Amino acid sequence: SNRTFTMIKPDAVKNGHAGAIIDRFIKEGFRIVSLKLTKLSAEKAGEFYAVHKERPFYGELVDFMSSGPIYAAILEKENAVAGFRELIGATNPAQAAEGTIRKLYATSLGENAVHGSDSDENAKIEGDFFFSGLEQF
Ligand code: GTP
Ligand code: MG
Repeated sequence: SNRTFTMIKPDAVKNGHAGAIIDRFIKEGFRIVSLKLTKLSAEKAGEFYAVHKERPFYGELVDFMSSGPIYAAILEKENAVAGFRELIGATNPAQAAEGTIRKLYATSLGENAVHGSDSDENAKIEGDFFFSGLEQF
């Protein structure tokens, strides 16, 4: 597929980086299919990250992801999932390559500025979690 799903996480929104991050998506050739500013309840954040529910950091992750507004977006580009994960860099910003979004804007391993889907299948599931069919064009 040529689509991926992303969130600009509460830390990056709070720190004023959302505009620069969206600008970077566009400059890197991603077309914005869908975009919204929203806020996850703890219940919704828990549902989104259910795959991690046995991990020791799950509670922290759910608290953080429901702590403030986020931008959710579907992006389109050839080879979107892999290309986007390259653009955002390693999960831990201390290990992220120079120039990647997490290197530039993330605070810590937990508060790492952006989410990127890890497969075409999850990109579809995650995009549908936030956007109706009418909002994806
Ligand atoms: P996402 O794009 O957000 O899914 O990140 P990822 O695919 O690079 O990492 P993964 O799916 O393994 O983990 C999901 C999210 O959980 C990460 O982005 C972090 O925000 C958070 N996370 C992962 N490991 C830890 C950890 O050890 N401690 C804390 N506090 N958070 C973690
Ligand atoms: Mg992940």
